[in-house]
Amino acid sequence: MSEPFIEVRGLRKFFNVGNNRILKAVHDISFTIAKGETLGLVGESGCGKSTAGRTMIRLYEPTAGSVTLDGVDVTKLSKSKLKAYRRKMQMIFQDPYASLNPRLTVLDIIGEALDIHGLAGSRAERKRRVEQLLEMVGLNAEHASRFPHEFSGGQRQRIGITRALAVEPEFIVCDEPISALDVSIQAQIINLLIDLQKKMGFTYLFVAHDLSMVKYMSDRVAVMYLGKIVELASSENLYAHPQHPYTQALLSAIPVPDPDLEAQKERIVLSGDLPSPVNPPSGCPFRTRCHAATERCAQETPEFREVRPNHWASCHYA
Ligand SMILES: Nc1ncnc2c1ncn2[C@@H]1O[C@H](COP(=O)(O)OP(=O)(O)OP(=O)(O)O)[C@@H](O)[C@H]1O
Ligand SMILES: [Mg+2]
Repeated sequence: MSEPFIEVRGLRKFFNVGNNRILKAVHDISFTIAKGETLGLVGESGCGKSTAGRTMIRLYEPTAGSVTLDGVDVTKLSKSKLKAYRRKMQMIFQDPYASLNPRLTVLDIIGEALDIHGLAGSRAERKRRVEQLLEMVGLNAEHASRFPHEFSGGQRQRIGITRALAVEPEFIVCDEPISALDVSIQAQIINLLIDLQKKMGFTYLFVAHDLSMVKYMSDRVAVMYLGKIVELASSENLYAHPQHPYTQALLSAIPVPDPDLEAQKERIVLSGDLPSPVNPPSGCPFRTRCHAATERCAQETPEFREVRPNHWASCHYA
């Protein structure tokens, strides 16, 4: 088999939150992503999805571990080399309102990205390139002279996508790119991302809460809980044969369109809140909310192991 395009090994991001307390936002995660693949990353609010995405492209400095992109260990690049390498790794943010500078026109928001990497050339060329990019995402040339507040949420997200595209990246972290948008707009943005991936061969890490959207988008899905990946499988297998009780609970919360099936379905309710990542439970991090937890789960941390072919889970009883 060829080398994976992206390889994450033992990646850790801890935050020092004062009084000698360490918040373990990302705690030794490992996975690979193939070229052109979409890996979905799901889990409850605060489980570490955004931190994982940001650390992978070194918007945060990792506490430990490595991230190899196309054979280069991104975590070892010097600051100056990293700047050039950033072009390959971009991010689309959750909030299209907050992530665009309100004082700049669209031309300058996207032009700035081109400038940073010396991709702009003359002013006329820069403008032409921005207009071309806007058309690729379903906006048009006239939009270049406008400011972010003149656009709808969906259009703003298209601008955010354009800014990421502009530098011709290879890997894009899509951090809940549709969760701030109207439901009616969400599918359009998803389809745009899928289209662009087909045309440009992008590799995506697609972060989301909503498991149903992730299934539609992703080749494989990783489920995260309290800074760790607890299950990883192809979308199909994850949905058909969830192995970890946490994944089972998340899946049971998705409504089924058929009312008879929906009525029969067993819903697993998660009791209690997400424990603090400053003070995680001993043994299995999920055991305090798991309906099947035993004494062993408090004593022994389950290994992340291949429980079925290409299907990984960290549960003693998977
Ligand atoms: N800069 C930071 N300093 C300290 N703690 C942080 C920082 N960024 C994130 N955290 C903490 O790390 C944990 C993971 O946060 P993160 O934003 O990665 O979660 P998430 O899964 O993306 O959540 P959401 O679904 O709400 O976006 C949380 O406990 C959060 O409070
Ligand atoms: Mg987040």
